[in-house]
Amino acid sequence: MTMLTTKEAMEARRSIRKFRPDAVPDECIRELLESARMAPSGCNAQPWRFKIVREPAIRRLLADAAHGQTFIADAPVVIVCCADIGGYLDGTVSGIQDLGRIGAVENRIVEILVDRVRQMKTSCTVEEIGPRIAANVVIAIEHIVLRALDFGLGTCWIRLLDEQRVKKIFGWDEKIMVVALLPLGYPAESPSARKRMSIEELLL
Ligand SMILES: Cc1cc2nc3c(=O)[nH]c(=O)nc-3n(C[C@H](O)[C@H](O)[C@H](O)COP(=O)(O)O)c2cc1C
Repeated sequence: MTMLTTKEAMEARRSIRKFRPDAVPDECIRELLESARMAPSGCNAQPWRFKIVREPAIRRLLADAAHGQTFIADAPVVIVCCADIGGYLDGTVSGIQDLGRIGAVENRIVEILVDRVRQMKTSCTVEEIGPRIAANVVIAIEHIVLRALDFGLGTCWIRLLDEQRVKKIFGWDEKIMVVALLPLGYPAESPSARKRMSIEELLL
């Protein structure tokens, strides 16, 4: 294991689309999930959920559900990164109340947030709250992506997918939202850095 600084990991990371067939040890997967656990989330709701897929047949189904991006099935592991829509609102209320109890957030803000969640519960559809929840999951995913480099592992974010097809593979209902797939394995390629905008271009 090579422990990279955050800066080194950000500089070294590439989207990897060719993998060696070597198995990824369970301890590595556990460490990656640890890094996801540490991610921040709104009201500390922690709505991320992960399905670890090793079975070749399921990996192939996932590749099919991602519009035939076959390299997904070649990775020894695919992490299906999801949001727990069902538990999110209750998780938000208990999370913000905890933050209030320990004095991290003022009571006034706790009340505003709890009230907002109550309104969301009665007036928001899954389509409306989905993107808000996904924003939290995305942070946890990127923790995994960067931490993977410490173990010499490569990943590639996959968002080009048919969510309903992925959910059907696992029999998930509307309470689970699929945010991304993350094929994971030892890289069989070392791509050069992709083009990036200059700082001047990204400043508004
Ligand atoms: C949200 C998101 C979705 C992506 N979806 C896909 C995808 O479906 N298939 C794919 O091959 N790459 C996908 N990528 C990878 C991007 O193409 C890649 O990050 C970009 O070209 C920059 O290259 P780099 O990651 O090597 O720096 C995705 C990346 C992100 C962040």
